[in-house]
Amino acid sequence: MPIIKILPHAEYCPQGAEISASAGTSICEALLENHIAIEHACDMSCACTTCHVIVRAGLASLNPAQEEEEDLLDRAWGLEPNSRLSCQTILAQQDVTVEIPKYSINHAKENH
Ligand code: FES
Repeated sequence: MPIIKILPHAEYCPQGAEISASAGTSICEALLENHIAIEHACDMSCACTTCHVIVRAGLASLNPAQEEEEDLLDRAWGLEPNSRLSCQTILAQQDVTVEIPKYSINHAKENH
């Protein structure tokens, strides 16, 4: 099973984490199943952006982003070229490394 390495995030996994998940699982599902409580405000239906992650390794192995995801990503906090919505990002056989951005748009609204 592929490994997802999660870089340290102050709130969700201060030490970072490594989890394994079956190919075909979305990164968001895999994180939640492993008690990394990433936000998923629209219940993984590609309608928010709170599940935004930046893929630091293994991006090419993942399913390409559809137009809907790309459009939504434009609104995500801290967008980078390797950004994906984790609920739309499906693991293949290869290991990946992801970073959960410091804020989501929900945080940004609360704090600013
Ligand atoms: S949970 Fe809303 S877009 Fe992923």
